[in-house]
Amino acid sequence: MADQRKRSWAEPYKIKMVEPVRMISREEREKAIKEAGYNTFLLRSRDVYIDLLTDSGTSAMSDRQWAGMMMGDEAYAGSENFYHLEEAIQKYYGYKYMVPTHQGRAAEHIISQLMINEGDCVPGNMYFTTTKLHQELAGGTFVDVIIDEAHDPENEHPFKANVDLTKLEDLIKEKGQDKIPYVSIATSVNMAGGQPISMANLKEVRKLTNKYDIPIIHDMTRVAENAYFIKQRENGYEDTPIKDIVREICSLTDGATMSAKKDALVNIGGFLALNDQELFRKAQNMVVVYEGLHTYGGMAGRDMEALAIGITESVDEDHIRARVGQVQYLGEKLLDMSIPVVRPIGSHGVFLNAKKILPHLTQDELPAQTLAAELYLDAGIRSMERGVVSAGRNPETGKHNYPALELIRLTIPRRVYTQAHMDVVAESVEAVYQQREDITGLAFDYEPEYLRFFQSRFKKL
Ligand code: F0G
Repeated sequence: MADQRKRSWAEPYKIKMVEPVRMISREEREKAIKEAGYNTFLLRSRDVYIDLLTDSGTSAMSDRQWAGMMMGDEAYAGSENFYHLEEAIQKYYGYKYMVPTHQGRAAEHIISQLMINEGDCVPGNMYFTTTKLHQELAGGTFVDVIIDEAHDPENEHPFKANVDLTKLEDLIKEKGQDKIPYVSIATSVNMAGGQPISMANLKEVRKLTNKYDIPIIHDMTRVAENAYFIKQRENGYEDTPIKDIVREICSLTDGATMSAKKDALVNIGGFLALNDQELFRKAQNMVVVYEGLHTYGGMAGRDMEALAIGITESVDEDHIRARVGQVQYLGEKLLDMSIPVVRPIGSHGVFLNAKKILPHLTQDELPAQTLAAELYLDAGIRSMERGVVSAGRNPETGKHNYPALELIRLTIPRRVYTQAHMDVVAESVEAVYQQREDITGLAFDYEPEYLRFFQSRFKKL
């Protein structure tokens, strides 16, 4: 019966301005990727057709946000936009205090330097590249306490970002609570494939950390996306508004670092939010050394205004359903084509399992880096390596870290591409998959010291 058929839905916006993209020829792509040392970070954007490198800073802003940009109060001190941003953070996230930073890693720098001492341990639900590096630079060691299911790309656990409470408590007992300055909890865990933590698990983590008097610092970069999955999957939240779920998540933590370039729909910006006044005063003092005065940190007034508005839009029900919905659309298309992808499909991108697609390459032959280069060659689609190259080296032994997951990420910018772009991407992935047996690996040609995935160069084996 026609009226019982599932009806199509569309993006909750219409397009007012367009930015042309171009597809260069196969020969030109071969030249471009070779010149980029087979690293998609080193490609020029003009040589990319569909850019799925990252969802960071790549969102399309709304007409409201652009209007807000015109209301920039560029005073050195006490900009009106700072107060709008502060209000938005207090209203939607519930944290008491905040210092603006130019992006997420600047907030990570400040919190790591303020809270971590030499020899400390920082447990977290899987590492993120910049977060872990700042913990290490402050003298700490990151310890992964995520559930084992998170390391298995095929496991269908609905909350793969959950913390293994036994691992966490054993670590606290082993190291002693004074060696653990905080527990680092990310919502929608990036390196696990954009997987959520459940509210129930977060409540348990809160209970455990309260018992040992250890704070929780929240990496809230994709908190609204996590909230969407809680609404979809967790009992008791079906009818809870996204904004209430977001606030409840934040209320279970003591502070947060935010890369506002993701969930919060701006091209640049971030902040450190805290509930502890003394720590906040220290952060305010540190921000003037590294970023700028505490009422702008690393941001222009206009950028703070766009962010305040972006926060409001990010928790809108229609927005978040369409945002995650588009990622699910691409993921399901790839699953129908029997392409090995991380399951369940994540919130901000689809992660291809390079170990499974290129089983003939060892991890030293950099399967994910290789696959990202091949995908660019096929149709000019840019993706990001999330495997051994991203995992870096062990600072003590100097050896490669070999992560269980060897992935490439097709990251979907918010409000930028259409369903037709997603179809083109899926077809290109399928074309590469069909030629997978002929693909040979890569080796390092140049390797910088920090966050090597950004600037390394590779050569064909
Ligand atoms: N935390 C998470 C979970 C992130 O995904 C990122 C950035 C950061 C912190 C750092 O924030 O870039 O504003 O300094 N992720 C980007 C990405 C780079 O492509 O996933 P930043």
